[in-house]
Amino acid sequence: MRVIAVVNQKGGCGKTTTTVNLAGALAADGSRVLVVDLDPQAHATLALGIDPEELDQNLYEILAEPAGVRRLEEVIISASDGLDLAPSSIVLSALEQKLAAERHDSRTERLSVALDNLPPYYDYVLIDCPPNVGLLTFNALRAAREVIIPLEMSFFAVDGVQKLLETVALLNDRIGHDVSVRILPTLYDGRTRYARQTLGDVRELFKDLCFDTVIRNNVKLREAARAGKPIARFASSANGARDYAALAIEVEASPPPAIRNDIPREEKETVGGDSTREVVVRYRDAQAGEVRIAGDFNGWIPDKGVRSMIESEGETRIWTKILYLPPGTYQYRYVVDGEWFRDPDNTDFVPTAAGQENSVLVVR
Ligand SMILES: Nc1ncnc2c1ncn2[C@@H]1O[C@H](COP(=O)(O)OP(=O)(O)OP(=O)(O)O)[C@@H](O)[C@H]1O
Ligand SMILES: [Mg+2]
Repeated sequence: MRVIAVVNQKGGCGKTTTTVNLAGALAADGSRVLVVDLDPQAHATLALGIDPEELDQNLYEILAEPAGVRRLEEVIISASDGLDLAPSSIVLSALEQKLAAERHDSRTERLSVALDNLPPYYDYVLIDCPPNVGLLTFNALRAAREVIIPLEMSFFAVDGVQKLLETVALLNDRIGHDVSVRILPTLYDGRTRYARQTLGDVRELFKDLCFDTVIRNNVKLREAARAGKPIARFASSANGARDYAALAIEVEASPPPAIRNDIPREEKETVGGDSTREVVVRYRDAQAGEVRIAGDFNGWIPDKGVRSMIESEGETRIWTKILYLPPGTYQYRYVVDGEWFRDPDNTDFVPTAAGQENSVLVVR
């Protein structure tokens, strides 16, 4: 069972559309899919043709109890062939507050435990998240091994994505499992120069993290949501249906990520073989508390795959970052106490789509 969370704190970037229509495309290919609607707005529930107000039970009943008390099957309903739903309702917004008031460690594990307790029936679980990184989204990130971040090509802010990647990295550290992140360009209108340029920048910045598939603007996707059906069942020859079918093929073809603890340490360090170079960069600061490095070499996840050392020289602290990279040209930034900066000691930098600057590193 592959558990994929669709996450972005930015509203309206296509999370729900992606959850519902990727689920529809995977089901059309013969997979058994469960959509978990974690957003109190219940848009995924509505887009699957179900009125949350007519249901007696929803995810709240399961997640309000300590992990393992209630079973997810109690609220799961069938939406269409091969496609089931764990529905949301506006009451889920109260859950966010209820969980926030609890000091229980298990409050971010509830969904994860509920999914672990499901019988081995589903091939895919897709989780639609609300547009914020609160406790509901944390529940999704804990439960998922894979994350899809939809990025709207008509209005793109790289900083928001970098903050999100940072959250995922923090979580990876805390729970000891790697969540693999992929970026999905959405709401793409190839007729505008801005969108074409943004897509180019996003591909350059995120490289392999970016899906090959791009979701184009397609009014049929809105109409399908209003009709309460995935587009595969509403207008199977529309561009929106083709794009989500292509995404499903890409997802099916990509292997689920390995569990980090399964990879022996030696093996990890020799990834890349003889062609890998050891690259050392240093950051000096008297005030900073925590300095990490993120770039296209580690999927913009701060300090992922990086060895760090800290020394002191009088008042100044020196952070040494050791990277293992094959020859090539890379972009990076430092994350200093949560703020993203280019390397002040490196005069080689480039502007980003969002009007900031990335430092450039050439490994020969
Ligand atoms: N590729 C597309 N083409 C046309 N319309 C789209 C496309 N993707 C999404 N939309 C429309 O844009 C709006 C926002 O999309 P969606 O609800 O999927 O975003 P979201 O990220 O889930 O929003 P929220 O953050 O509020 O949950 C919806 O009306 C949806 O129908
Ligand atoms: Mg949504």
